[in-house]
Amino acid sequence: MVIKMRLDKYLSECTGKTRSQVKALVKKGLVTVDGVPAKSPDMKIDETSSAVTMDGKTLSYEKYVYYMLNKPEGYVSATNDNLHKTVIDLLSGENTRDLFPVGRLDIDTVGLLLITNDGALSHDLLSPAKHVAKTYEAILDGIVTDEDITMFKTGVDIGEEKLCKPATLKVVDIDENKGHSRVYITITEGKFHQIKRMANAIGMDVLFLKRLSMGSLVLDPALSPGEYRRLTEDELNSLRSK
Ligand code: URA
Repeated sequence: MVIKMRLDKYLSECTGKTRSQVKALVKKGLVTVDGVPAKSPDMKIDETSSAVTMDGKTLSYEKYVYYMLNKPEGYVSATNDNLHKTVIDLLSGENTRDLFPVGRLDIDTVGLLLITNDGALSHDLLSPAKHVAKTYEAILDGIVTDEDITMFKTGVDIGEEKLCKPATLKVVDIDENKGHSRVYITITEGKFHQIKRMANAIGMDVLFLKRLSMGSLVLDPALSPGEYRRLTEDELNSLRSK
């Protein structure tokens, strides 16, 4: 069955323009469907096969879009906020309607954030039942011991009804002078401020926190803070097959 879509909805979703803006363009005869100027903004088109142009440019419809963002500090993981800039603001120039971040990173956390309009994929990645692994690089203000590593493996008590699920704490390097440890932490849950609370449970504060991966998706080292790119087909297929 071919699902038909209203032309003005299609135009607005492809371009990010409002319905009234695209309606005006249709009225001016600047939109064609299969080579013929569109007569009315409410005509139905097949979004998968109709050839649509607007202002001479060929449009293509993508139902879902997927961006990998290297989140910088100072941005909130939300779609809008009265006080702070949001991660969606970083995708300026894109059609950001319906986009949202998959999960949250704190305002001072940096690194991998997936941004999409695909609610089903987001739900799958965030579902506690799926145990999607997330790896973070962190600098902790203390020297990590073997007991700390064992505690992470067993399940840290962060004051909730249940212990955290087993997590890995791997020391990357120790700065004896400063008394800091650089570590990789992998968790399979997404509790509020989980990494910071796990660090607090071993008597340390997190000085720096960066997400490196989520499931099979790994932060592209070519992305500087604030930069983003589309996911590749391979990245998307691997994420979906989790
Ligand atoms: N854990 C935290 O404490 N903060 C984050 O941003 C992500 C995980």
